[in-house]
Amino acid sequence: MTLIAVDGPAASGKGTVATRLARWFQLPHLDTGLLYRAVGIRAQADCADAVDVASAFQLEWLEDDALRSDAAAQAASKVGAIPAVRAALLHVQRTFAATPGGAVLDGRDIGTVIAPAADAKLFIDATVDVRAARRHADLIGRGLASRFEQVLADLGERDARDRARTTAPLTPARDALVLDTSRLDVDQVFGVARAFVLAKLGRAEQDLPLAGGASISR
Ligand code: CDP
Repeated sequence: MTLIAVDGPAASGKGTVATRLARWFQLPHLDTGLLYRAVGIRAQADCADAVDVASAFQLEWLEDDALRSDAAAQAASKVGAIPAVRAALLHVQRTFAATPGGAVLDGRDIGTVIAPAADAKLFIDATVDVRAARRHADLIGRGLASRFEQVLADLGERDARDRARTTAPLTPARDALVLDTSRLDVDQVFGVARAFVLAKLGRAEQDLPLAGGASISR
């Protein structure tokens, strides 16, 4: 059983690290931001109560391209501040975390709330300017319209909301490795993260992975 928690602010690269860790350790991966995105856009589109939407959550909702938009991220951040929405989405995340053999989950409160007993906890951070530049490049790379100033403002707004909320605010778990990735590339971040997880597990690089599984991520 290998449970890995990856948290961090918007566009810090936590999803990329989580995806690579999951592949390397052959574990299933859940990008928990997708849950909040799905609830956010459904509540908005149907003018429905976000708590009702979260209570009716279905995993199939995660197969929707609209979840990748910045509008979905903003909607997610708003519904994510509602304690009853978080409570409604707790069970699905804890169930995933209890997958036999283990799992990788990434989000905001994995190490603090969802999986406080995780074997290894990482908190992936970077300055807001670096994160905005990464998100901007990512959007342009996907052929979407993007303005750097707008992305920067959006991240700043979401950071403030995610950090200030009373339920499960964005903060590193006490036993998390906090990694400032502002000056590191993806391979360097993955190298540090992998070494940290292996050390936590008391395993060596050449040990064979323990389990296999699917990925629910962007
Ligand atoms: O990578 P990015 O931050 O842009 O998106 P995300 O991880 O999909 O998160 C979108 C929003 O969902 C965040 O700003 C949080 O407010 C919320 N969220 C949360 O509250 N708890 C989680 N475990 C994951 C996301």
